Order: sequence, then C-alpha cells, then structure tokens
Amino acid sequence: MSSYVTRKTPGNTEWFKESRFGMFIHWGLYSLPARHEWVKSRECIPEEKYDKYFKYFNPTMFDAKDWARQAKAAGMKYAVLTTKHHEGFCLFNTKYTDYNVMNTKYGKDIVKEYVDAFRAEGIKIGFYYSLIDWHHPHFTIDRIHPRRNDKNAKDLNEGRDMSIYAQYLRDQVTELLTNYGKIDILWFDYSYPDDTKQPVWTLGKGKDSWESEKLIKTARSLQPDIIIDNRADIEQDIWTPEQYQVLEWVKHKETGELVTWEACQTFSGSWGYHRDESTWKSPEMLIHMLINTVCIGGNLLMNVGPTAKGYFDKRAEKSLGVYAEWMKYNSASIYGCTQAEPEFIAPRGTRITQSNDGKRLYIHLMEYPYAFLEFQGLADKIDYAQFLHDGSEILYSLNAVDHFTQFSSESKNMVAFKLPYVKPDVTVPVIEVFLK
Ligand code: GLC
Repeated sequence: MSSYVTRKTPGNTEWFKESRFGMFIHWGLYSLPARHEWVKSRECIPEEKYDKYFKYFNPTMFDAKDWARQAKAAGMKYAVLTTKHHEGFCLFNTKYTDYNVMNTKYGKDIVKEYVDAFRAEGIKIGFYYSLIDWHHPHFTIDRIHPRRNDKNAKDLNEGRDMSIYAQYLRDQVTELLTNYGKIDILWFDYSYPDDTKQPVWTLGKGKDSWESEKLIKTARSLQPDIIIDNRADIEQDIWTPEQYQVLEWVKHKETGELVTWEACQTFSGSWGYHRDESTWKSPEMLIHMLINTVCIGGNLLMNVGPTAKGYFDKRAEKSLGVYAEWMKYNSASIYGCTQAEPEFIAPRGTRITQSNDGKRLYIHLMEYPYAFLEFQGLADKIDYAQFLHDGSEILYSLNAVDHFTQFSSESKNMVAFKLPYVKPDVTVPVIEVFLK
C-alpha cells in the first residue's frame, strides 16, 4: 500500500485519485468571438454587443456522444463542463434567468446532453460553475467586470445587491444538483478577495460575496459525496493549481499535510475556443504533463474548447489523439498510480510512478537513455521487467556484476536495464517493473 496519506476532506475523493485524468470543457457564447473566454472583460464589451453571440449561438454540429467517445478514447475517466462561465450564460435549463441555452436558436439543454452521453460511456460527471457573473443585474461592478471603465462605473452599483446574487447561486446550484442525477464534482470558479486599501467599489470578491458557506452546505445536502474544489474561498476537497506544472506534491499551507490536488491545463493558451491562438503543445509536452502530475500524486484535468459549431476542432482532436494513442498502451502507469515510495529515486531523465498496492513500479523514459539505465536501490526488490506498451521483456543485470562493472555506481543494490538502442515508437516509453 502507498504510504502517502492525504488530508481528510468532506467529499469522496477515492475514485478521483484512482482516475487521475479528466477532461475539462470550456464552452459558452465566447466560442463565437473565438478569442478567449474572457473576451467580454478583456475588451470591455457592452451588453448590447455581446447579445449578438446569444442571438447567433447555434451549435448545429454538437454531438455530445462524439465528445464522450473522444474523452473515453483519450483515457479520461471524468469530465468537467462549464455549465456557466464568467459571462453568465447558462448551458442548462434554468428558471432563474432567461440568459440560458433554451432561449437560443439551439434551444436544447446542453448540460443534459453532456450528462447523458458521458455517463453512458462510464465517465464521471463534473460541473464547473462560475461564481463570477458579468451578466447578472445584481453582480456588482469590480476591477475585472466588463463595465469597470465606464465613466459612471461606480454609480452602476447603485441598487445592485450581492445578497440577491448569492441566492441566485444557491438556486442554480440546487437546479444543477437536482435535475441531472448523481454529480461527482462541483468546480466553482473563482474568488479574488482584496484588502481594503482600494476604493471600495473596485474590491474583489470572496466567500462573503458568494456566501460560500451556505452555498457549499446547499451542495452537500443535495449530493453528500460530491467533490468540491477550493475556489469558493473555503477549503474543500481538491486544490487546483492552474496552467503550471508544480514540482512536488501539493501541501496544505498551514499543516503541511499532503492534499488531494488536480492540475488544470489547456492544449493552447486559452480555455475557450480561440481561433488564432497558436501556442499548441507538442505531443511530448502533453504526455509529459500527465506523467509529471501523477508522479507527484496529482490528477490532470486537460481542457478542450469546442468551436461555436459544437465540435472539437482538428487541433484539439489531434491533441486528444496523442493521449488516446499513448493511453491505449500505457494507462497502467497512470490509473491507480501515485508518487513512488521514497525509497525509489528516479534516475536522471525519468519519472516514476507506483501502483497503489505497491506491487508495480513504472519508469517513464522522458529522455530516452542510450542502451542502459541504472536504477539504484532496486536490485533486492525487482522480480521482472518489461516494456509497458508491448509486454516485451527488458533484460537487466543486478549489482553491476561481470560485463556491467564499468557502471558509475558502487552501489550493491543497483539494477542496470538493457534497453534497445533505438527508442520504441512511443512518445514516452515506460518500463514496468514487477516488485517482489
Ligand atoms: C480561471 C479563468 C478561467 C478558467 C479557469 C480554469 O480562473 O478565469 O477562464 O475557466 O481559470 O481553471
């Protein structure tokens, strides 16, 4: 059994830690302008102008089953869809605002289609729900709001009442957690509380604005096992570092305990569909990110931003295909795996994971070594080794005896793996070691 213990939290994170890999989906009206999901704020787009996207939203090529198939093929075990992003538009049927998908040309509940299709593929269901809302009439103008630069910006807050908005959050979360069966993850986004040195009307928002305690209580009363992230400004089940690769297992700030964590990342530099963005990650980067995350005990939530037509564009499909290809042969080093026990030190150019039952060790060859790979402290534990992708035996020598004596280390407990000179045709080959 793995010796790493994570901080106890209210939700059920067991399945989550087994799964390791999920699909994030950012979809909303911003897929029409196709220049970042923050476009309304970045360009300070007034309501009348943004309404055009509402008027023309009609993803005629949306096929939830196709999304679900692609997620499954990529090896993703759960998904998290933006039911509402900061723009305030709801992809679900809600009675608390007209600003929802039922009133667009498309006219069908997208959240329902998503839930049905993904569930049918055995994928666990997550809802992203934005705490920020740049459409709601009671959401006050602040420093990130699209109307912050209006001449009379601060007067616009007259009559706006965040407690009405907080009730709206509870009402919609109630709908989301009542109308779609079992929901596995609720992903709130996000809080930006400030100190009070700034002029009051520009202040950011945090747990007091969202009334997070009540909100979370509402959610848990409807779905007791649900996993909730930390972005409502109250610590819950998962910590969510965004768009960067952390270097070690995320720890609790005060207690230093290990926590359950999930890195979220994009294929390119935007969450929502971005036509002209070109920083798409290479196949190596995509696979490395997944391995880098799991080898320090985390999950990876990889994002897709569907087009306004409703499909994953070619670049996204290709990136998903990179995962599909690799996971088809190598998923055993990811599912049910975690950081290797401290006694195992990854040799240079490798990352290692270990199965939760402790019986298998996976050596990911991020830099393909030439002919031999030395691994210290393994000789007394190794029973057999093979490539994970094809099950072909990997020969090794123990304790640097006979013709291996030229190796650098004097260690009595070293294994020297003998690898083919030419790297197998796998983005990152993995050595699977069965331990005694
Ligand atoms: C951020 C952004 C957002 C994105 C999210 C994903 O907080 O505001 O656009 O949805 O991160 O983690």
